[in-house]
Amino acid sequence: MTAADFVAALPKTELHVHLEGTLEPEDLVRFAARNGVELPWRSPDEVRAAYSYTGLDEFLRLYYLGCTVLHTRADFHELTAAYLRRAAADGVRRAEMFVSPQSFLGRVAVADVLGGVLDAIADARTDLGVDGAVLVIAQRHRTEAEALELLDAVAPWQDSLLGVGLGGAELGNPPSRFARFFADARRRGYRLTCHAGEEGPAGYVREALDCGVERIDHGIAAADDPALVARLRDEGVPLTMCPLSNLRLRVVDDLAGYPIMALHDAGVVVSVNSDDPPYFGGYVADNHRALAEHLGLSTAQLAALARSGFRASFAPADEIAAGVAAVEDHEARAAGSQPNVADAP
Ligand code: ADE
Ligand code: ZN
Repeated sequence: MTAADFVAALPKTELHVHLEGTLEPEDLVRFAARNGVELPWRSPDEVRAAYSYTGLDEFLRLYYLGCTVLHTRADFHELTAAYLRRAAADGVRRAEMFVSPQSFLGRVAVADVLGGVLDAIADARTDLGVDGAVLVIAQRHRTEAEALELLDAVAPWQDSLLGVGLGGAELGNPPSRFARFFADARRRGYRLTCHAGEEGPAGYVREALDCGVERIDHGIAAADDPALVARLRDEGVPLTMCPLSNLRLRVVDDLAGYPIMALHDAGVVVSVNSDDPPYFGGYVADNHRALAEHLGLSTAQLAALARSGFRASFAPADEIAAGVAAVEDHEARAAGSQPNVADAP
């Protein structure tokens, strides 16, 4: 069995995907036409051609422009349902998705954003067997006061929300600037994540840990800091890594030296994720395949990463155990079916 075949049916998690960032160019153009939004592009191919970035800030400009085509509860339902269909086809069993109501302030009511997303998650649970959940993220280029207002704004849906995170333009906006936001979210009972160490330094990952964050989104900068790697391992804080995103945003020059297995081997719980799939050229299985190809991963290593994904999730313990068992089952079946090319001496 090839690594690509093994990845296709490997039970997976997706713990770092922005719903706004799952808008396929065809849907972007279609939503824009439907909602009367003028875009600088006329066709999906023109949109795709624009998806080349020098870094996070340039990407975010396109991403926020893409957000302007989403107007109604039905749009958010369609967006989420389409993503979950692709995730299910990709072997995703558990999807913990970000959405940022601040992307739509003044245009779309929080009730329409969250209502559409939550309805689609409920549908996918019964229709597709995907266990979906949503985390609301604040944007770090805005003020902490606005982040605190966001917590008030989403309070009516708190029982349906999994957690809270922080995303957006990282450099110059360290996690410590949002210490009260994280403390308030924690007091309210949310699970906490934070984008840190994507373009920012290892120190931002430390600050996120000091804010009580339970999972770091990206965290690649930690790989060069042995003391921080040890802290992540000892405190059991996972990293949700996004190889194709890091490549397209020039966080890394290539995937040959991507540090995910070094972190895993050092005892950190690491998972493979897509971030904003159409913007970065791949969904979660594409990210696994890219790692398999560029790092020469064996099926055993791919299975280890998939198990880490379930362990890094905020799912109940019995669901985590079931996910881990499903990966082991897949590994055993694959090993029994034919000699493993990638594992051959
Ligand atoms: N929002 C969407 N994608 C993001 C990323 N890669 N980093 C920070 N914020 C984001
Ligand atoms: Zn992200």
